[in-house]
Amino acid sequence: MNVASTTTLPRTQRAWTYTSRGLPREILSLNSAYAVPPPPSGTNVLVRVTHVGLNPGCYMTLQSIPPLIRRIVSGGKKTEYVPEGEFSGVVVLVGPGVARASSISEFRPNARVFGSLPVPSLLGGDGTLTEYISVPASQIALVPPTMRMEEAAGLSGAGLTAWAMLNEVPGLNPLQDITPKTRILINGGSGGVGTMLIQLAKDMGAYVVATCSERSKTLVESLGADEVIDYRRNDPLPSYLASNYSSSPSSQSHSQSQLQFDLILDTIGSQPLFLSSPSYLSPDGLYINVGNFDHGVFGTVSNALWNTYVGWYLPRFLGGVPRRYIMISTTPNGEKASLLARMIEEGRLKVVVDEVVEFERVLEAYDRMIAKNALGKIIIKVQDE
Ligand SMILES: NC(=O)c1ccc[n+]([C@@H]2O[C@H](COP(=O)([O-])OP(=O)(O)OC[C@H]3O[C@@H](n4cnc5c(N)ncnc54)[C@H](OP(=O)(O)O)[C@@H]3O)[C@@H](O)[C@H]2O)c1
Repeated sequence: MNVASTTTLPRTQRAWTYTSRGLPREILSLNSAYAVPPPPSGTNVLVRVTHVGLNPGCYMTLQSIPPLIRRIVSGGKKTEYVPEGEFSGVVVLVGPGVARASSISEFRPNARVFGSLPVPSLLGGDGTLTEYISVPASQIALVPPTMRMEEAAGLSGAGLTAWAMLNEVPGLNPLQDITPKTRILINGGSGGVGTMLIQLAKDMGAYVVATCSERSKTLVESLGADEVIDYRRNDPLPSYLASNYSSSPSSQSHSQSQLQFDLILDTIGSQPLFLSSPSYLSPDGLYINVGNFDHGVFGTVSNALWNTYVGWYLPRFLGGVPRRYIMISTTPNGEKASLLARMIEEGRLKVVVDEVVEFERVLEAYDRMIAKNALGKIIIKVQDE
């Protein structure tokens, strides 16, 4: 039996929607008569969304992806789109295939779940800033009993990005390459991804140095960072690092805190930090960037291509940088989200929530995110559990 047939759904719902390209304040409006998705088919589930974790990547793509692309991806039918991709909520209905597939049969009505939408939904404008979503069961995981729903909404996007930066990088074998001797610099330790990276890197036993501003120091230390660098006081950061972290492990006179890094994990997307990295990143080290669209998609992609494929081969005097550079992107899924949920249950990981903002105040939340003011994740409360 399709569980859908036993539950009555409203026909319409509240949703933040847009029809054109631009900043959230310019294009988003609250639609109180947006259509509720039909009962789920196959292995999809219908979730009543309680919370949404905002992701900076989303507002950046609101500016950069033309609605025509979204229309094509959504099959040519949609003209009104919903932003964002992360959520927590309660399962309302499950498609007929869910109970049959043992790996996802745990997702029954009333189960508390969290996750991220698949890329085609994001591109097609089928986002999560709404009351009900239809999502493949393969994209979700159960919320641990002790975890609050607002925390769960912030886990999968930033958490799985951080996870990928440490566990899914070609040429980096976490079990072998990350030991208590491994020195990691995390640029941007106080944001959504940075707060996850610090905890995951410490859980793997590494020595962690993180950058943040003065106001975030206590938070970043409480997450386990061994050293904290105030990037504002020590501006420009590349010169500061070159003066203080340039000793190679083979040199005779050095203290542990002066050694070069083995890994630089950049959540800010700083091109100057990479260009000067031979001074403070060991010759066989890795520079891993999570991507940043502040300078536009073109600027980000061209920097990444140059750093990865051209700079490596050029001599220094022609602008080459002899350090391996990898730009990472993730495709979250439920199995990996379950791994993080287990770490939460075991007390090895927590979600740092900057603020929980009411659904009606989404535009203020975006303002705060765009100003890069959030410590951890900004969460939108859509409705009560
Ligand atoms: N969040 C996600 O779920 C997610 C998922 C995939 C990819 N990404 C990508 O990852 C990147 C980072 O995202 P995020 O969510 O971590 O960002 P975020 O939470 O918006 O980061 C904001 C924090 O960055 C710090 N900051 C600003 N400028 C800095 C600088 N120059 N150096 C060091 N810290 C600085 C600020 O703290 P201080 O006051 O301490 O400076 C602020 O707390 C973005 O490009 C995003 O698109 C994010």
